[in-house]
Amino acid sequence: MSDIKKEYKRVTVKSLIEMKSLGEKISMLTAYDYTMAKIVDGAGVDVILVGDSASNVMAGHETTLPITLDQMIYHASSVVRAIERALVVVDLPFGTYQSDSKEALRSAIRIMKESGGHAVKLEGGKEIKGSIKKILNAGIPVMGHLGLTPQSIYKFGTYTVRAKEEEEALQLIEDAKLLERLGCFAIVLEKIPASLAQKVAESISIPVLGIGAGGGVDGQVLVLHDMLGMTQEFHPRFLRRYMSLHEEMTTAISEYVSDVKTSEFPNENEQY
Ligand code: KIV
Repeated sequence: MSDIKKEYKRVTVKSLIEMKSLGEKISMLTAYDYTMAKIVDGAGVDVILVGDSASNVMAGHETTLPITLDQMIYHASSVVRAIERALVVVDLPFGTYQSDSKEALRSAIRIMKESGGHAVKLEGGKEIKGSIKKILNAGIPVMGHLGLTPQSIYKFGTYTVRAKEEEEALQLIEDAKLLERLGCFAIVLEKIPASLAQKVAESISIPVLGIGAGGGVDGQVLVLHDMLGMTQEFHPRFLRRYMSLHEEMTTAISEYVSDVKTSEFPNENEQY
């Protein structure tokens, strides 16, 4: 059953805040290329995240750290060309916003100008306050990202659940409130206890989108290739696989190989 409270021809940052106030959950998925983005947009996803998870999913790196600003712009511009309805949010990659706020603004401006994306996402709280302020002052919408922030993986050491201890949980609540005060339009909370995520969602008026953060938040985000079952090696508890595309694709491709080898393909209708 559909639970859509209001139709949006085009999703904007304002629509997302309205969705929260109407109690309508927000759907977000990643996409990194034109063809996938066209399917995701056509299926009615509200927000497409051109995540720096492209570093893992598209390029096969172990972490999100190696992806560059130029590569993010390439992925984002491919996605933007496919979109008719969704809001496109683009990750600022590691090393393009942490050192100073002027560099952060330059990076965000390059994303907006060269990809046509609609907003940027940055990982972190008070430590990147200056960068967030500077980007927002230039009229660029910012989505925050707290909890497990994969660009800091070498500081954390593991990808396990964050903010289980009181001190980290209190800091996360403070950071979420700070991001709201600064003017961020939404926040991603990654891999934290569901009760904490719900508390954050209830204590701020901007939408909170969760990944591994339970159902008490304002919307959900997953990595497209994971939820389609294209990736196999990644199976955290929070991941629901809606398809087993790895198997289906492998079967289809093996059939093709066999048809070529046996001269079953092409037949006389498949030639000129
Ligand atoms: O890069 C990404 O895909 C993300 C999501 C996991 C939220 O940041």
